[in-house]
Amino acid sequence: MGMSLDSSVLCLLAAGAISYVEAAVQYYDWSVAYTYASPDCVEKLVMAVNGEVPGPRIDATEGDTIVVNLTNHLPTEGVVIHWHGMHQVGTPYYDGTASVSQCTINSGETFTYTFIVDRAGTYFWHGHFAMQRTAGLYGSIIVQLPDSQKEPFYYDDEASVLLSDWWHKSIYEQQLGLDSIPFRFVGEPQSLLIEGRGKYNCALDPGSNGASPSCLPCNASNPECAYHVIPVEHGKTYRLRIASITSLSSLNFVLEGHNLTVVTIDGRYIEPVVVENLDIYSGQSYSVLFTADQDQSRNYWAGINVRGRIPNTTTGLAVLQYLPNSTDLQLPPSKPPGSPAWDDFDYSLAQARLYKVRPGYEKPVPQSAGRTLILLNTQNKINGHIKWAINNISFVFTPTPFLAAFKLKLKNAFSPIAPPDVPPNKPDFNIFALPNPNDPSEINANFGSSPYVFKLGETVDVIVQNANTLNPNNSEIHPWHLHGHDFWILGYGKGKFDPANDPQSFNLADPPLRNTVAVFPYGWVAIRFVANNPGVWPFHCHIESHFYMGMGVIFAEGIHKLPSLPTETLGCGLTKPRH
Ligand code: C2O
Ligand code: CU
Repeated sequence: MGMSLDSSVLCLLAAGAISYVEAAVQYYDWSVAYTYASPDCVEKLVMAVNGEVPGPRIDATEGDTIVVNLTNHLPTEGVVIHWHGMHQVGTPYYDGTASVSQCTINSGETFTYTFIVDRAGTYFWHGHFAMQRTAGLYGSIIVQLPDSQKEPFYYDDEASVLLSDWWHKSIYEQQLGLDSIPFRFVGEPQSLLIEGRGKYNCALDPGSNGASPSCLPCNASNPECAYHVIPVEHGKTYRLRIASITSLSSLNFVLEGHNLTVVTIDGRYIEPVVVENLDIYSGQSYSVLFTADQDQSRNYWAGINVRGRIPNTTTGLAVLQYLPNSTDLQLPPSKPPGSPAWDDFDYSLAQARLYKVRPGYEKPVPQSAGRTLILLNTQNKINGHIKWAINNISFVFTPTPFLAAFKLKLKNAFSPIAPPDVPPNKPDFNIFALPNPNDPSEINANFGSSPYVFKLGETVDVIVQNANTLNPNNSEIHPWHLHGHDFWILGYGKGKFDPANDPQSFNLADPPLRNTVAVFPYGWVAIRFVANNPGVWPFHCHIESHFYMGMGVIFAEGIHKLPSLPTETLGCGLTKPRH
């Protein structure tokens, strides 16, 4: 049973001021089950909530308590749901990460998540057990300010634009391929979806591009894959809440004929900036404003294109409909909108550097850190399997959730040896070269799962350093996401981070805050956060296959401050009741 939260008056910390507001408690009954669906016109099994694909959207007001009774109707596997962007202050055991915050919910069981939506903004929920997110287990969380507060910008209406990428192969085949020798990558997605809809070209040969390997039915006129429509009235200003839950793809969003004014990133206010098109990485969200001021006799495309990987997926499309035009009769007359070249990383870096905190809306960034981690992100082999590693350790999921291991002092749940704060024995590591075949420490990594433990309240800097993969002249984009905290982005750099000089260029004046940041090929990013949220928190690449292959670490702080864990989160690994 979930905890009972009947008190309707909650004390909230909003926009830096303490205010007392009537906060609502919202109850949801969710059932997770497979269903047949055709998000891109190709019918396949999809992991759905209450039969919906994408799953139900949560609409809430800052300070609301959300109670989700989740029943697992998947016949053969466990499940958990993570509330991405929610900070779970005081409720880390409802963060919904398998092997970290709880045991997975067994087939046939019900689990109750209870948490407070602590900040207005655009967020999402998704499966966080192996690659279940890729199976379609995701949806939006949209959090409004309370009526007593106003956004620092004007708009007439808003629309949600949830972005994802889509494969026809099941996640079981995808996972098996990643685990196999020889390695079989998931490959580029068959489709890009906007609000869960895309269009696979049914005329493509079954079997090509890894698509329709078993000749899945494809029906271009299935209403399930009709274009998503965003209706607007001429002259009005709209807020688009753009969020990316992609499994692999970095995207660029274009609204044909309209510039976008970016006003928030991951729920945090920034100094507004105007862009022609918007880069967005998995795990991120943006609010952008635009005014419907174009020729109203026609409709326009909203499009997404793949960035950072050689694209093999056509533009994902939705229709911006100028009312009263119809969308049946008037698809936009133009070609799908294009984006900057997929490998124009300077463009992406320049856009990422545009974002600065909006003055007056955030606490100033601490001017120094008590601890600095340098996390070198490499591709390696372990017993012939291709893995990702951080400081030479490839993360493995443990049968005992870390939170329970700490709280219940279960000594054997993970290795007691702390992971290294800096890349071990690698001062000269060349991030631009193929790993040195004569140096086993560059080719081979080890499995590991011991956490980084911070002092409660400590300010932590993390440098994430990218490098060449096991393929020549290849380094990839990795969007790193932190649970339980937002962080300041102090800077991005090209090449190898220089601890002696690069900190001098950190932005300590107006760095933006967010929860997911892109690390560009052959580059680094520096972030800072305050370890002030008792719990255990993954920090990982938000690319589903990359985290599955070990690209993540675990942070922990202040566990002693937590009350005892709800028993419903236990019952696996070393937390099994023993009689
Ligand atoms: Cu949306 Cu651990 O991530
Ligand atoms: Cu990655």
